[in-house]
Amino acid sequence: MFKTVVVVLLASFVAFAQSQNAEDILPLVTGGTATVRGDAPSVVSIRRPVEVAQDTNIYCSGVIVNANHIVTAASCVHNTTFHLVNPFWFRIIAGDLNILLPSYQRFTTRATHIYTHPNYGFNPPRNNIAVMRTLDPFPVPHNTIDFAVRNTRILPIGQVCRFIGWGSQTDTGAINVVQMSLNAPIIDRACGGVVIVDNMLCAGTMVQNSGVCTGNIGGGLFCDVDGWWEFTGVLAGGLGCGAPNIAGLYMQVREFNTWINQQFTRTDATNPGILVQTPPA
Ligand SMILES: *[C@@H]1O[C@H](CO)[C@@H](O)[C@H](O)[C@H]1NC(C)=O
Repeated sequence: MFKTVVVVLLASFVAFAQSQNAEDILPLVTGGTATVRGDAPSVVSIRRPVEVAQDTNIYCSGVIVNANHIVTAASCVHNTTFHLVNPFWFRIIAGDLNILLPSYQRFTTRATHIYTHPNYGFNPPRNNIAVMRTLDPFPVPHNTIDFAVRNTRILPIGQVCRFIGWGSQTDTGAINVVQMSLNAPIIDRACGGVVIVDNMLCAGTMVQNSGVCTGNIGGGLFCDVDGWWEFTGVLAGGLGCGAPNIAGLYMQVREFNTWINQQFTRTDATNPGILVQTPPA
């Protein structure tokens, strides 16, 4: 915690020092600290190629919820015209901290089924959540790969939470290759202008240079519940990338637990190319 605060303060100072130059105020760091192995064993990196340029990757994050399912954001699994991407294209990387340099701990698999929430809406963000079934089961429990314990309780404003992800150093820039942990307490219901509903929450700090960026979507917010980091939110927006007054926008896991459980036993095929967006209620 102390370390995180120091990083944030340092980052703010750097931004302040640079703010003389108007072009330089875009923050290049997001705060946070690097994790160590086993710190967040349920967090996976998800990648797929951009359809038009298949050697370019689109990155998202996800969280292992049982031996062959992960939870991510619905916006990670469709293309820009809201068609479901073929599960074949996804690569799910577990057990690794650095996503460029593979280690012996790395476990990579593919998706076989993707189920998006039936009431998913892209803008305004609503029910932005999806469950992916993996081709190979995760070797859980394991020191560096495990499923998350899902939160079931209402947590108050100020609850200590952390976001775990890779993301990028700018909203358009290169992926941050090492896994980071960002201090992100639950805050009030103003997520930087987006009107949120009951099954969402805001978390983060409103200070500059402490925020999430592109590449993190679908990643997990883990809150301290009686000393355990419980999976509490799925990142769905609020990508200020460290700009002031923008917090992370999350889908509240507790509100989706029943729906998530129902996906585990579904056997219907998900047809690539189907439209996943439905108009918001
Ligand atoms: C999205 O996927 C659909 C169905 O596969 C395809 O027809 C469409 O061209 C894709 N859109 C983009 C922008 O690639």
